[in-house]
Amino acid sequence: MKYETIRLETKGNIGYVTINRPDKLNALNAKAKSELKEVFEDIKNNATVFVVILTGAGEKSFVAGTDIAELTGLGTETGKTFAENGQSVFNLIENLGKPVIAAVNGYALGGGCELAIACHIRIASENARFGQPEVNLGIIPGYGGTQRFARLIGKGRAMELILTGDAIDAQEALRIGLVSKVVPQSELMRTAEEMAQKIASKGQIAVRLAVKAINMTQETNLTDGLALEASLFGVCCGSEDFKEGTKAFLEKRKPVFKNK
Ligand code: COA
Repeated sequence: MKYETIRLETKGNIGYVTINRPDKLNALNAKAKSELKEVFEDIKNNATVFVVILTGAGEKSFVAGTDIAELTGLGTETGKTFAENGQSVFNLIENLGKPVIAAVNGYALGGGCELAIACHIRIASENARFGQPEVNLGIIPGYGGTQRFARLIGKGRAMELILTGDAIDAQEALRIGLVSKVVPQSELMRTAEEMAQKIASKGQIAVRLAVKAINMTQETNLTDGLALEASLFGVCCGSEDFKEGTKAFLEKRKPVFKNK
């Protein structure tokens, strides 16, 4: 399928999604949001894609936010619907059932920061900048920022970044646990690809159930989370991959997973 604002490629078991509006620093307009949803629905149903890498076109920006031109004119009701629509796209990514790695290649501001934190893992280039500058526009983050940011980096830090609207650089993002790695821009995609390939080489039942269990930490208490973990552990133990993984270890060879 041909998209106007998104590039979708697949290589082996990796899907590459690139938001492609570099002249607008990949700001998410309505078209980009609806195409992002279509692309991720497509990937969700594509059994050959195990891991996704999400990035922005060009060397300056991952996503510089929602398209500010489309914010003007919103009122109380339309604003709520606008936020719910964006949230539904990012919820789809977070609950895709397969890991999404954000390769953050520059500005990740507003909706761009929220998009990155809806992904499962973040790798940043040295020039990346993260922030939630919505207060400068008289609004709050509406695509999950107040909720996911606080859960990821802690309430105090999320408060400070959201209330001041300040942006932080890649090293600070690494220090506070917002990203897992910082690399030179020239190495960003290779680093993301190596990580994606490593994850794709594991048993995918285990990978997907691990994502599900870890996602649940945001939604439940420890007792229920541990109950879910035990039951998903049991599901893994009933898989062929588990038999192969343990057998291969004992036979001192690499496992050949069938994802069954
Ligand atoms: N929405 C719409 N257009 C945006 C945009 C956004 N969030 N961010 C950047 N753009 C557009 C600019 O309007 C400009 O378009 P033009 O060339 O047609 O005038 C183009 O992208 C390049 O941006 P520019 O501001 O010229 O680049 P810069 O290097 O001087 O500054 C930023 C980069 C990211 C600091 C600046 O663009 C910015 O502050 N963007 C808004 C960030 C924001 O508030 N995001 C949250 C929105 S809720």
